[in-house]
Amino acid sequence: MRQSRRQGVRSTTVLRREALTATVPVALAALLAAAGPASAGTGGAPGAGDPYFPLAGNGGYHVDHYGLTLRYDPASRHLDGTAVLTARATQHLTRFDLDFTGLKITGLTVDRAKAQYRRDGQELVVTPSRRLHPGEEFHVTVSYSGTPKPVTDPDGSLDGWIPTDDGAFVAGEPQGAMTWFPANNHPRDKSSYDITVTVPAGRTAVSNGVLVGQRTRHGRTTFHWRQREPMAAYLATATVGKFKVEQYNTRDGLRVYNAVDPREASQAAPVLKKLPSVLEWESKLFGPYPFRAAGSIVDRAPNVGYALETQSRPVYDSAPDLSTLVHENAHQWFGDSVSLTSWKDIWLNEGFATYAEWLYSEQHGGDSAQKSFDALYARPASDGLWAFPPGDPGSGAHIFDTPVYARGAMTLHELRGSVGDRTFFRILRTWAAVHRAGHGTTAQFVHLAERESGKNLDPLFTTWLYSRGKPNHA
Ligand code: ARG
Ligand code: ZN
Repeated sequence: MRQSRRQGVRSTTVLRREALTATVPVALAALLAAAGPASAGTGGAPGAGDPYFPLAGNGGYHVDHYGLTLRYDPASRHLDGTAVLTARATQHLTRFDLDFTGLKITGLTVDRAKAQYRRDGQELVVTPSRRLHPGEEFHVTVSYSGTPKPVTDPDGSLDGWIPTDDGAFVAGEPQGAMTWFPANNHPRDKSSYDITVTVPAGRTAVSNGVLVGQRTRHGRTTFHWRQREPMAAYLATATVGKFKVEQYNTRDGLRVYNAVDPREASQAAPVLKKLPSVLEWESKLFGPYPFRAAGSIVDRAPNVGYALETQSRPVYDSAPDLSTLVHENAHQWFGDSVSLTSWKDIWLNEGFATYAEWLYSEQHGGDSAQKSFDALYARPASDGLWAFPPGDPGSGAHIFDTPVYARGAMTLHELRGSVGDRTFFRILRTWAAVHRAGHGTTAQFVHLAERESGKNLDPLFTTWLYSRGKPNHA
């Protein structure tokens, strides 16, 4: 079925920046304090407190901005990079961690002073020359080089900087960002980005947001991308290849940039042509599109087996079908603009994006959402669909399994049936609006649904999100 495209062939299956800067450190500090043991003393915690990925993210600071300057040579697969992180301490810090794996570090400073560091697995432990104070802004500059290697996720998928025959497919969910830049690698921390990539002339480097500059000199082309709206590290990309590029503005003034591997072009064309109408349809349903840029990166990356909703511009491992295009773009609202605080809540991303596929089909002459629901519900209790409840995948190995996508979507369909269409769509829009450019948890979603509908929805969500086995259907 459809989900298998995204699940990996090898696996079973309006806050503005200013406001954020002002409020996030406090909120984050509170979260971290609540999350955890390791924020004691003056060392930042090595993780953000996520039980599925305990070392993902770090404590003690928030990254406001990443400035990444990269140079990639597809022939030798060599990457040179400099990352400048503008961060803010949320506690006293004599030491803090970044997530970074593989590449060799050639220089590291904090506020231009050489800093001590040591590496321990994915943790890059930095000891600045002086102590940082709560609320203080600081800059970390890391220079690095080498041959980036993807990580293998608990579900067996490749993740991160994945070499292709003409460049690299770059995607980072949930862990891979740290294979190509030092990061506070958890969706709890969102930042703006400037990503500048130099590649041999003839290749294109495509990243997030708006292309603010491009120039070719001495046989190399430099692409400068800017993502202003806050973004989780896993949604960053810098995909490199031989691409056909198409740029236009939509009627709503969105800047669209599509980059397509010529070998995928004829198959991709009829689907990409629908992007403006898909975004318009999604905007009607979910509220205003959350970013100023949009687009698609259609690569040929046969060893990847999934597409990713990289912010403002999803990346596809091959020409997508229409439902995949709908899915990845629905994530721009659900997953990208409204981010997870914990990977356990992944159904808030995948269940919603899958339900968007069902709705699209329903409203465009295909199967009704009810029919999609019924076809799944007909599966026997022994089917993998019922292997675990979507609100509790159990570990990072299962966050992209069928129950998260399909039973997650079924949960929303049940909600819709219970509260009626008007209230249901108001809930979706309110969710996207209230948590725009921020975060949302399952508990907050349940609370919002109850408030908007005036109903006690506890039994519904308990059954569909948290109960083991195939739910009894009323
Ligand atoms: N979020 C992606 C999608 O459903 C799937 C990413 C899968 N990643 C992985 N490491 N298995 O569109
Ligand atoms: Zn998805």
